[in-house]
Amino acid sequence: MKNKICVLPGDGIGPEIITEAVKCLKAVEKAFNREFEYFCGKIGGSAIDECGDPFPIETETMCKEADAILFGAIGDPKYDNNPKAKTRPEQGLLKMRKVLGLYANVRPVKIYESLIDRSPIKADRIKGCDFVIYRELIGGIYFGEPRGRSENGETAFDACVYSKNEIERVTRLAFEAAKIRKGKLTLVDKANVLATSRLWREIVSQIHQNEFPEITLDYLFVDNAAMKIITSPADFDVILTENMFGDILSDEASVITGSIGLMPSASIGAKVSLFEPIHGSYPQMAGKNRANPIAAILSAAMMLELSFGYRKESDAILNAVKSIVDDGYLTEELVENGKSVSTSQIGDRISSLILKNPYLY
Ligand code: IPM
Ligand code: MN
Repeated sequence: MKNKICVLPGDGIGPEIITEAVKCLKAVEKAFNREFEYFCGKIGGSAIDECGDPFPIETETMCKEADAILFGAIGDPKYDNNPKAKTRPEQGLLKMRKVLGLYANVRPVKIYESLIDRSPIKADRIKGCDFVIYRELIGGIYFGEPRGRSENGETAFDACVYSKNEIERVTRLAFEAAKIRKGKLTLVDKANVLATSRLWREIVSQIHQNEFPEITLDYLFVDNAAMKIITSPADFDVILTENMFGDILSDEASVITGSIGLMPSASIGAKVSLFEPIHGSYPQMAGKNRANPIAAILSAAMMLELSFGYRKESDAILNAVKSIVDDGYLTEELVENGKSVSTSQIGDRISSLILKNPYLY
């Protein structure tokens, strides 16, 4: 049976990093005798340019028919400084998340030992850092109503709204993850100020008592969590949090690893899931063959495991990535002195390692 993959390269560096991820998936097909079917859709600024819609209906249909979605990035500076623009690339991403019900965004934060001195944080602080952020993705202030401007235009508002059900489904996933990891879950909120955060605490502590009593649960206010992620990242196992806190904390956490270009993510839905690097479209770097494709390649590995159940295949990618990183075969943002390699060289090297000896690692 062929696994159907909807590929959405998007904007900026999206197309070039996704090309490398697909290259690695093709190596996996060969090495493990699997067959994937790829179909490519438009999204974001490039979709606006082509048809005026950042998430056209054809793309939506393609996503719904796929077994998994591999997504690059969206965003274009021509919209960023124009608050009057009616249509923006980000609307495409948010609509896609909402329409497909991608409720849990999973963002692993793991250090490669060989890159420890690439991190701006002192080595003794980050040693053993291995945690994962479970970010609620289709609720909270990103989607709450009412939102907009008052009639006279002098006031703007964005409501933060959460329902019990929205909190429960991502919470259960996060507890399940803690169960097979180090057995610890930290709920990050602002329960000293926000009503939504107090609802989160209530629901998470109930689910903990009733369904996962063996997990150690603790709570952190988001401002304090922002500090602890930098001062003692190795203390975390699973961080569970709402949409906007998760957005901010995961960018912060990426700094620990030395490059946001190493960070993959999975957005889990009830029917189909989507896999994407956490970095954005990095327009200044687009088309130069210099961006790091590892986050996209690792996102493809997450897809193999989580959507298709192909554990060995996913491991082959992870191990090949580790092997080139350990060899110092890196894109420029990770190289201090010495030679860096290009986007396509990274993809070539990883796919040739997968083909050479898929089971060796
Ligand atoms: C992310 C991005 C998006 C978000 C933007 C592009 C809308 O920053 O995936 O983290 O805020 O969720
Ligand atoms: Mn973000």
